[in-house]
Amino acid sequence: MTTSLLLLRHSSSAAAVFFSSSSFVFTKNTNSSRSFTSIKMERGEASEQITGEKKKVFVAGATGQTGKRIVEQLLSRGFAVKAGVRDVDKAKTSFRQDPSLHFVKADVTEGSEKLAEAIGDDSHAVICATGFRPGFDLFAPWKIDNFGTVSLVDACKKQGVNRFVLVSSILVNGAAMGQILNPAYIFLNVFGLTLVAKLQAEKYIKRSGVNYTIVRPGGLKNDPPSGNVVMEPEDTLSGGSISRDQVAEVAVEALLDEEESSYKVVEIVASADAPKRSYKDLFASVKGH
Ligand SMILES: NC(=O)c1ccc[n+]([C@@H]2O[C@H](COP(=O)([O-])OP(=O)(O)OC[C@H]3O[C@@H](n4cnc5c(N)ncnc54)[C@H](OP(=O)(O)O)[C@@H]3O)[C@@H](O)[C@H]2O)c1
Repeated sequence: MTTSLLLLRHSSSAAAVFFSSSSFVFTKNTNSSRSFTSIKMERGEASEQITGEKKKVFVAGATGQTGKRIVEQLLSRGFAVKAGVRDVDKAKTSFRQDPSLHFVKADVTEGSEKLAEAIGDDSHAVICATGFRPGFDLFAPWKIDNFGTVSLVDACKKQGVNRFVLVSSILVNGAAMGQILNPAYIFLNVFGLTLVAKLQAEKYIKRSGVNYTIVRPGGLKNDPPSGNVVMEPEDTLSGGSISRDQVAEVAVEALLDEEESSYKVVEIVASADAPKRSYKDLFASVKGH
């Protein structure tokens, strides 16, 4: 894999259900649990929402290239979204208006109290797609990709949110994989130990008790998908790339299939040679913790 491929900037009750081809609405509320137990539908469109409203997901890094796709896919799959952004006015200009989309200021460097306020008491899950923006601050990867993510997990615990999906990266544990000389591993760690910072955040999530899915993509591309998703257990892949559209899809599918995706670390790339498999099948193929 070339270095450029991996440039990191780096709940039960009765409910009547009505759904269209791409969204869902639950009309009766008799349970306030926040579990994402899925009601399976044809394209896995709905997750169980017993609150009479769309289930709300807080997305950190919603203005990012992957984050934006996650927001759009969540909306198209019938979720409500609280987009956590650093600049609300600016963020509003880059999304189509949608009554199910709301923006809230959320800088992950400002600590867990503020993040808990941003997440609020109405979010059922958090997806983190943040990544430091390159600049002169050598500690930025550590501040964003480690402490920022740790603060988000703490904020989830404060608010009782028990579902966390993190967009991380392959090779975060490159040293243990014998990939210490992998050019991508070297390059990304030279710039502020980015992969080490991400690995430490992953370890914190695993210890937190929060129900997690850690998605580790290969090099990210803005092109539409050009192959099928390959999903492997942690510390398996050392190269390859994937469309951000597919990364967003995996993150959203993780919420839709809690049964198969909980407490798992999955590594993903895309391959034209790989067979097309359902997400259920892909998640089921990876052992949980
Ligand atoms: N690039 C790759 O090839 C590659 C490969 C594997 C994994 N990854 C990882 O995948 C994730 C997504 O990557 P991407 O390229 O799609 O991301 P991106 O476009 O660089 O977006 C980064 C997002 O993080 C936000 N952010 C930065 N600092 C923040 C802070 N202090 N508080 C809150 N939000 C903050 C940015 O907000 P603003 O818009 O306000 O700046 C932006 O929304 C990252 O973690 C990245 O490291 C990347």
